[in-house]
Amino acid sequence: MASTRYRLIELLNTNENTYISGQKLSEELNISRSAIWKHMKELEKDGYTIEGVRRKGYRIVTSPDKVSENTVLWGLGTDWIGKNMVHKQMADSTQTIAHQEALNGAPNGTVVIADQQTQGKGRMERQWHSAKGKGIWMSIILRPDLNPGLAPQLTLMTAAVVAEVLTVHTPANPKIKWPNDILLNHKKAAGILTEMQAEQDRIQYVVIGIGLNVNQMETDFPDPLKEKATSIRQETGKSCHTTNLIQQILGRFEQVYATFMQNGFSPIKSKWEYYGYKIGEKIRIRTPRNSLDAVLLGIAEDGALLARTSDKEIKKIYSGEIEWLREEDL
Ligand code: BTN
Repeated sequence: MASTRYRLIELLNTNENTYISGQKLSEELNISRSAIWKHMKELEKDGYTIEGVRRKGYRIVTSPDKVSENTVLWGLGTDWIGKNMVHKQMADSTQTIAHQEALNGAPNGTVVIADQQTQGKGRMERQWHSAKGKGIWMSIILRPDLNPGLAPQLTLMTAAVVAEVLTVHTPANPKIKWPNDILLNHKKAAGILTEMQAEQDRIQYVVIGIGLNVNQMETDFPDPLKEKATSIRQETGKSCHTTNLIQQILGRFEQVYATFMQNGFSPIKSKWEYYGYKIGEKIRIRTPRNSLDAVLLGIAEDGALLARTSDKEIKKIYSGEIEWLREEDL
């Protein structure tokens, strides 16, 4: 059923702006014309406006900005990412669902999206505020043939993809605060959380969670977050079409991931550094064990943060939080 509807959307999509006859649809899908009509009604429930003209056929006039499997699939120009999609109106966390799906054999490129998360997870056991219909809360399942030690590179790659897509949507230059915070005007608009199931030398699967604030107003964030978080809407003053944005992120993700798998991390490293926040500036790095002041140089081939200490030593940092020093600390 779902796959017939998906094929139907695909057919209407290939014939964008032109009509496709009921006869042709019925032949291609191998179902009756009344079955097609029923599918059309379902699409309309999803918010599509479908025009049916006698002797011409059908065409999609507008697609809704309501996230569902159908709306995301329609116009998704990917080969494999998102072709298997799970959409929930409400989820505890799309990460949790993605893990279950992956353990049940979900294919490479499966995407889990929720309109709302009740227990959205951030890095370092933090919560991720995921209000209903205000942002993109999605997790991508990947099954890369990669050494588990290289998985952090996927986080950096994803951050670069999201930053790049955001340049199209906001005049504010997106920046990436190592390793994975995407900032607009110094405030956090998106975060990436990568979780992995692996054996010693083989990744079983990776779940890459992307949280992107899209249409929140300042008042939509709870108090302590208001200071630190922003959304595309806050930066542009305009609401943003979430479904299109999901499609753009998945489309670009597929392309950049292909480059990464073919050519390794080098091209991704340059991309990340292009968006890197405060490169060349003095920072404080807090690791679980200590705190260190240094100049941020960029990232290493293995995805670690590179920083130069005051005694000119180059350090590689694999986990920690970075803070910017205040004037008086410099
Ligand atoms: C961070 O910056 O701390 C990472 C935030 C990641 C949030 C996303 S929203 C979709 C996915 N599901 C979750 O529960 N978390 C990630």
